[in-house]
Amino acid sequence: MVKNSELYENKTILAPMVRVGTLPMRLLAVKYGADLVYCEEIIDFKILKSKRVENDALGTTDFVLSDGTIIFRTHPQEKDKLIFQIGTADAKRALKAAQRIEDLVSGVDVNMGCPKEFSIKGGMGAALLSQPEKIKEILTTLVNGLSVPVTCKIRILPELEDTLKLVKLIESTGVSALGVHGRTKEERPRHSNRNNIIQTIAELLSIPVIANGGSKEVIKVYEDIAVFKQATGCSSAMIARAAEWNPTIFRAEGKLPLLDVVKEYVKVAIEWDNNWVNTKYCVLQMMHDNMLDYPEGELTQAAMSMEDISEIWGLKDYYLQVRQKLSKISEGAESQGDRVSIETNENGGYRICMPLRFEKKDFSCKISPKLKLFEWTRSKELPKPTYNTTEKSEDRTFNCVLQLHTNEFTTPYWEKSKQLAEQASAAVATTVLDIVDGRVEEPSEQLEKCRVQWMQLKFEKNKLQFDSGNVENCVKGENSENSQVTKRKCDNDCDENSKKLCQVQDES
Ligand SMILES: Cc1cc2nc3c(=O)[nH]c(=O)nc-3n(C[C@H](O)[C@H](O)[C@H](O)COP(=O)(O)O)c2cc1C
Repeated sequence: MVKNSELYENKTILAPMVRVGTLPMRLLAVKYGADLVYCEEIIDFKILKSKRVENDALGTTDFVLSDGTIIFRTHPQEKDKLIFQIGTADAKRALKAAQRIEDLVSGVDVNMGCPKEFSIKGGMGAALLSQPEKIKEILTTLVNGLSVPVTCKIRILPELEDTLKLVKLIESTGVSALGVHGRTKEERPRHSNRNNIIQTIAELLSIPVIANGGSKEVIKVYEDIAVFKQATGCSSAMIARAAEWNPTIFRAEGKLPLLDVVKEYVKVAIEWDNNWVNTKYCVLQMMHDNMLDYPEGELTQAAMSMEDISEIWGLKDYYLQVRQKLSKISEGAESQGDRVSIETNENGGYRICMPLRFEKKDFSCKISPKLKLFEWTRSKELPKPTYNTTEKSEDRTFNCVLQLHTNEFTTPYWEKSKQLAEQASAAVATTVLDIVDGRVEEPSEQLEKCRVQWMQLKFEKNKLQFDSGNVENCVKGENSENSQVTKRKCDNDCDENSKKLCQVQDES
């Protein structure tokens, strides 16, 4: 049973565009009349690597990488129009990633048309067009595993017969619609879009076909969208470059003057705390043909901050007002970074993040969470923990993700040294696994708070798989045996045995 195909009928759509299709542009396209908006293609790996964060100040849900980069930001107001485009070469990974965002969007689309080297080398985008079995696997896995409709966007193949065979196979997977860009993967915008082939596909399939590729030749004004739909025999059209240059192309009353639209875009970007690099890129794309006609274009090229961009576009006061308002809300609300979180990771395990810092003063001599964790893994004959530390080059700070079998333990903080970051991640693991961490001081307020939040999550610890069984078995042993050993070592205040263990660990 095909899910909600009507969603894709009689629609005018903002096409997926890397760097362009971020929240401000999508909201602007919706404001001016787009019926559906695709986000930029986001690779499955990135979604799986990111942390899902509720942004209290903006009311958005953000997917944030460990270096703070926001790879996807969405607001509930766009949910009923938002299609998430995923880049993938693997069915299971695609499903896992899509499941992390499915409650935030109306549909999931698979990019099967991107001809860029990055995509092709990774077996994604247009590389899929020559792998029908892979296409089938990815699409059926998504169709069966997701509650929202699934679609894909392709380019045509050099031979009509092959194209028609491909689209029939795609339809057989149960997708709700198919986007078709009427050029082959070798062709560039200067090549004519094959509207007649899109029309043949639309006649052949029962699901809606979304026509794409008209920006260069056909779509200059709003009325041209209907002309393009007619030329391709499709009730829906997807527009990329004409919308990138001026999103008021979706406006039934006609396009608005470019400078007004750019200013409006900057305003929306300020409101949604869009980063300055992306904002600058989109402004320059909008100005593309008109850079020399307006001083704002050249000035934007030199901008180095959101404040600079706001000033150029006469919005500095507005920018400062919004900043003040947003920082007040953030101060009042406990940010997601202050909460314990648990997510599945790409290894099939869990990633647990706690707002914990390692305070050296709480520990005596060489007894530390790292040491205690090492002792624990050794006593359970588990592999040693692996510490994967990332250094942020801008300010030389460190964040560590500790890996124990498939599970990861980390904090949201960037520490002054690698050692502090490693100890903090070990403290997360000792808290989760109930390992006595050897502290000589009472647990800090921060640790108590994490423990309470962790209990409130009611996570069944036996879900944490390790090499020699699950954590329940391991923890039983810990409670009966190692806690005593730990106490003894504390009483002896760094005895010879633990010094040796420290050395072993440091060498490792
Ligand atoms: C800046 C830019 C970024 C793009 N990024 C994507 C993308 O992320 N996913 C995708 O399927 N197509 C992407 N495309 C291709 C467009 O979605 C579209 O297929 C192509 O531009 C033809 O449509 P048009 O004639 O309306 O521009 C991108 C195009 C542009 C210009």
